[in-house]
Amino acid sequence: MDFFYVSILSSLLAVFVAFLLYKNKSGSSAGRLPPGKTGFPVIGESYEFLSTGWKGYPEKFIFDRMTKYSSQVFRTHLLGEKAAVFCGATGNKFLFSNENKLVQAWWPKSVDKVFPSSSQSSSKEEAIKMRKMLPNFLKPEALQRYIGVMDYIAGKHFSSNWENQDKVEVFPLCKNYTFWIAARLFVSVEDPAEVAKLLEPFNVLASGLISVPVDLPGTPFNKAIKASNQIRKQLLEIIKQRKIDLAEGKASPTQDIMSHMLTTSDEDGNFMDEANVADKILGLLIGGHDTASSACTFIVKYLAELPEIYEGVYKEQMEIAKSKAPGELLNWEDIKNMKYSWNVACEVLRLAPPLQGAFREALNDFIFNGFSIPKGWKIYWSANSTHRNPECFPEPLKFDPSRFEGSGPAPYTFVPFGGGPRMCPGKEYARLEILVFMHHLVKRFKWEKIIADEKIVVDPMPIPAKGLPVRLFAHK
Ligand code: HEM
Repeated sequence: MDFFYVSILSSLLAVFVAFLLYKNKSGSSAGRLPPGKTGFPVIGESYEFLSTGWKGYPEKFIFDRMTKYSSQVFRTHLLGEKAAVFCGATGNKFLFSNENKLVQAWWPKSVDKVFPSSSQSSSKEEAIKMRKMLPNFLKPEALQRYIGVMDYIAGKHFSSNWENQDKVEVFPLCKNYTFWIAARLFVSVEDPAEVAKLLEPFNVLASGLISVPVDLPGTPFNKAIKASNQIRKQLLEIIKQRKIDLAEGKASPTQDIMSHMLTTSDEDGNFMDEANVADKILGLLIGGHDTASSACTFIVKYLAELPEIYEGVYKEQMEIAKSKAPGELLNWEDIKNMKYSWNVACEVLRLAPPLQGAFREALNDFIFNGFSIPKGWKIYWSANSTHRNPECFPEPLKFDPSRFEGSGPAPYTFVPFGGGPRMCPGKEYARLEILVFMHHLVKRFKWEKIIADEKIVVDPMPIPAKGLPVRLFAHK
């Protein structure tokens, strides 16, 4: 009998010790989860996250929680996933320096569904392949060659869409401008009618990308899937024709990124198939024009609101314009002389970042700032958590391009293009097309906003709700 009680007692003791050990283990290796709340089942806090953007102030979702829970990290539940939002320069530094060590890229399920990869691999693997391919197309020598092409297209774009107009709606025109350049440089489509045909379905694509993935008729997600299929079909037609032209010597293997993709093999000697090339070009066309068109639109908005800033840009650009012979295209030297204009553009990117942030996935359990982040959780970094933070940018709402003079903002605070190994590979390309746009715009016009306090909608990029109509005044 004694033996019976002793064995029961020792078993209970063993269970108790095991419990304590487990508790202790989860306490030390896992730690406390970040403070925060996870909202409703399944949808979590997705509605608040997306709807603050639709109302025009996406930073509210972030700053409300930074104030309530922690200025460094908080817990939430977004787009169907348990998530932590890392904030401030410390959060950005941690994420950007731990890429592929503690975290890896992750895109919401909606992105994988809108872009189902024809090669059956995930958007993550495809992004790695894309990254390997881009340097050739975006290397400095190539970029310098594009300045002339961008200038030429900008000239045509402004003379056919802006000149001789009293009023224009800026956002659709900016899309037309950046898309025309992308269509010319990525796939050699230049004819305005063909460019317009290709652009049409893109207009519904972006808002379905970062959405709750409900595939029912009429939802943004459903419309985005249809649009992406339509674009892929058009691209496949262009690719088929290109292959014929390449075989007949009518197209060159280096004329654009499409030729490059069709004629370059990977390390195992395999060439990408047509469907895969179409997927990649589709991704690039989205990344490469929507972001920059949002930036150009906000440049027009801020220059209308701030006459003294307009004067500074005008002075700089007119000096460049006057130094050119008739018909001479802009070149690399001219771009280097656009310092003030680029500071202005950076201040616009700070206040209206085209991408609000991006997701990562935790590769293992790890601790950030004393809080445990479990393996598999999604992590979001937010540009606004530093861009509009008075600790990083004093008087954050003040438009002040001098913040970018000298050594500029502190590391990891100005992040419109992200940071670390995943920093936007199109940053320099975007800088060139934005500066060429500013050159053409101020050289020709002054303008005023028609709607004084037009609402801003962020879905997922910021745009003025009515497209920013302005009244144009051509220089005498
Ligand atoms: C003002 C314009 C632009 C802005 C603000 C912007 C912003 C960004 C940001 C923030 C990221 C990083 C997302 C992350 O951390 O995961 C990114 C990635 C990327 N961007 Fe851009 N971008 C712009 C223009 C472009 C252009 C013109 C191209 C193509 C020519 C491009 C191609 C890409 C690609 C392919 C990636 C994915 C890189 C990867 O996952 O490794 N972007 N962009």
